[in-house]
Amino acid sequence: MPENLKLNTFLQEFHSDCKHPECSFGFYGFAFGQSPFPVPEPVKRALIENADKGAYAGVPGIQELRETISKYNKRNFDIDVDPSRVYVGPGTKELIFNLLEILHGTVILPTPAWLGYLPQIRFLKKNYHMLHVAKNGKITPNDLEHLTLRLHDRQKILILNNPNNPTGLIYSRLELEEIADVCRKHDILVISDEIYALTTYDINKFVSMGKIYPEGTFVTNGLSKSHAAGGYRLGYVVFPQHATELKKQFKKILATEYTATSTPIQHAAIAGFSESREMDEYLEITRRIHEIMGWYTYEGLNRIDGVKTTKPESTFYLLADFNAYSDDFLANKITNSQKFSESLIQHPYHTALVGGDSLVLERTDFSARIAFIDYNGKKAMENYVECQPKTNSDKIEFVKNNAPKIVDGIAMIERYLKDLKKETNSKISHQKTTDGETVSIP
Ligand SMILES: Cc1ncc(COP(=O)(O)O)c(C=O)c1O
Repeated sequence: MPENLKLNTFLQEFHSDCKHPECSFGFYGFAFGQSPFPVPEPVKRALIENADKGAYAGVPGIQELRETISKYNKRNFDIDVDPSRVYVGPGTKELIFNLLEILHGTVILPTPAWLGYLPQIRFLKKNYHMLHVAKNGKITPNDLEHLTLRLHDRQKILILNNPNNPTGLIYSRLELEEIADVCRKHDILVISDEIYALTTYDINKFVSMGKIYPEGTFVTNGLSKSHAAGGYRLGYVVFPQHATELKKQFKKILATEYTATSTPIQHAAIAGFSESREMDEYLEITRRIHEIMGWYTYEGLNRIDGVKTTKPESTFYLLADFNAYSDDFLANKITNSQKFSESLIQHPYHTALVGGDSLVLERTDFSARIAFIDYNGKKAMENYVECQPKTNSDKIEFVKNNAPKIVDGIAMIERYLKDLKKETNSKISHQKTTDGETVSIP
């Protein structure tokens, strides 16, 4: 079962099983990757106004939407994209799968990674290689080049997820330029999954790979994250320049697999991607709130003894490293990351996160993705508009008032780790009293 399905089922089954009345708070939800905000008003209105559009759309998407996406790319990412390079599909997940269907060569998958890619690569029986990120949480051109030289396929496909799920990090222009140099030299095409682009807290810092390596990059983006409309299922891909033959093949695949994307949803997307004061405000406010929640979560987790995390600059995730507790995990028979997430969801902790096994990390890597989205996004937006937090203490107040489960959830993670240590220490002293001397814990 795909990891996200497994997680969903696990949380639902587990929670209905907890008999303790003090656990009526549900669980602390650091696991799901879903924006907490409401769908933007212009998008909702456009969907309602176009509910009567019952005719099939053309395979690549309706022309007005492709033109709007072209302007959206110019406005936000300073890329000149002819509308003929834009293909619309039911979510970027589907489009990435379709791209992997038509592209030949070995896939290079940087890890940790979003849990959606690997099942697709395996399903399509493609050759693939992992490329573990460096200490700064990003892949380096040197590591990419070294790996590339070991691969036999002439063409390679790098899946670059920028901004990144799970780290929340973004690649700088210089980092992208250096990666692009390696790609040009070694025949590497890039699928640049930029679904979180417009959640970047300082939007001026985001650079699209489509700008840096336009001749070899497929950029995917959509409504799901920045526009909080994952359920609308609308994504797009911008093809590289001069990819006429690939576009033809892609069109065939789309026509064969799903004919076209829902027409009313495409009209809703036109409103979402068009320039308007309402959309600009929505994107700005939601970015600010993601930033505050990310900052609070980062500060809160890094204050816990032995916990280190990435510092998110975008998205609603960070990657937390709990490996300083490896000995304690092992002493308590928590031998891999899946057992770690299972033990944390158990009574009394009820805290859900995504463990390393679902991030394509080694099973014994006790890192985990923390999503900071467990709050009422609509209320938080209203409160933000009413009174914008400016100082750090305003921000702390804002999180406490709007996202108490994030505050309590971080405290619960700390309690879990303290209990784990206590448990280890009591095992050690038990060993001491039974054996008369300290023995190493297996
Ligand atoms: C990195 C990344 N790419 C793609 C997707 C899927 O996006 P869509 O809803 O457009 O299929 C997600 C969703 O969680 C994601 O985190």
